[in-house]
Amino acid sequence: MSLHTTTLIKALLRQPTAHTPVWLMRQAGRYLPEYRELRARAGSFLNLAKTPDYATEATLQPMRRFNLDAAIVFSDILTVPDAMGLGLYFGTGEGPRFRHPLRDEQAIKRLRVPEPESLDYLYQTVAQARRALDPKAALIGFAGSPWTLACYMVEGGPPGDFQLIKKMLYRRPELLQRILQVTSQAVAASLNAQIESGAQALMIFDTWGGALADGAYQRFSLFYMREVLARLHKTHHGQRVPSIIYTPGGSPWLGEMADSGADALSLDSACNLGMARQLVGHSVALQGNLDPSVLLGDEACIRREVQRTLQAFGPPAAGFGHVFNLGQGISPATSPEAVATLVEAVHELSRVRGGAYA
Ligand code: CP3
Repeated sequence: MSLHTTTLIKALLRQPTAHTPVWLMRQAGRYLPEYRELRARAGSFLNLAKTPDYATEATLQPMRRFNLDAAIVFSDILTVPDAMGLGLYFGTGEGPRFRHPLRDEQAIKRLRVPEPESLDYLYQTVAQARRALDPKAALIGFAGSPWTLACYMVEGGPPGDFQLIKKMLYRRPELLQRILQVTSQAVAASLNAQIESGAQALMIFDTWGGALADGAYQRFSLFYMREVLARLHKTHHGQRVPSIIYTPGGSPWLGEMADSGADALSLDSACNLGMARQLVGHSVALQGNLDPSVLLGDEACIRREVQRTLQAFGPPAAGFGHVFNLGQGISPATSPEAVATLVEAVHELSRVRGGAYA
């Protein structure tokens, strides 16, 4: 294992870097023709994600095209509940669904942390991808937050208006807490196994945390992310393994998120990076937060918006700790050329030339 400290890891630890590192949520996906070809060859998204050779190839595809500072392992947040026996499937054009959603007390009482072997395909993918990657690029592992996974586990698919899970939250909070406890252990175990397999940084996707009310967010989402973060191995082979949390719509709670034990917060596009930074001070790094729709603009537009995002974070002289990313996942309608323009612009405009973007 290489002991190279990559630009991404330095930025997440708020150490000086020569440029702002950049990677993109969903950087491996349908906007790439080679991904569509690979998915067709695999026959289905799940077969692609569960076959280490295919999943490794999907992880590496964006790295071959673009000068990205990090790869994210190709998988899905729903593989953990799948390993817990809920039976993940994708109906045609329907999005993800579970064959056995948690609809009664017995099913909830039976819920267990899965055997580690049930996610072997994921850990093998992490190990293969790390071996194949350039040592200068970091490999990011990930998982869903316990709350976000519980939304799918209870609703049985995309949570829509959150009827079932919110009814459980207000009527039977102890049942929901049992789901969240077991899922926190499962998520922490998966993230630790990803670290042991070669993941150098971790991200927790709390996609639906922003659907919670103030008060409920702290008790049912952030509390369990803290539980997960507290269980994570902090180092691997002497290297710090930083963690990132991401609650889109979570800007009202940035102060509390900064105090969760995570090393970095990933922000949606509604946040102003400079204001977020004032709020959290020097306690955490920030990731984000270009609107993915900017990639539908022309080259001049993309460069201008990149510059604006870098300026919002502030000049390097005021401190490091910015990882450039989108505010949410890249749209399948994006052209790969726009992504190339974005990555080049981030590197060029952020390179420290006596505070060039001050
Ligand atoms: O490149 C990457 O970012 C790594 C891979 C990754 C996927 N899903 C692959 C995937 C990651 C990090 C995820 C996370 C994920 N999965 C989230 C959190 C996202 C966020 O930004 O908050 C959620 C909610 C899921 C659940 C999920 N998986 C949904 C809702 C869907 C359907 C999406 C769609 O557009 O059809 C998936 C499938 C999925 N996961 C795809 C990919 C590339 C599309 C599958 C395909 O059709 O090829």
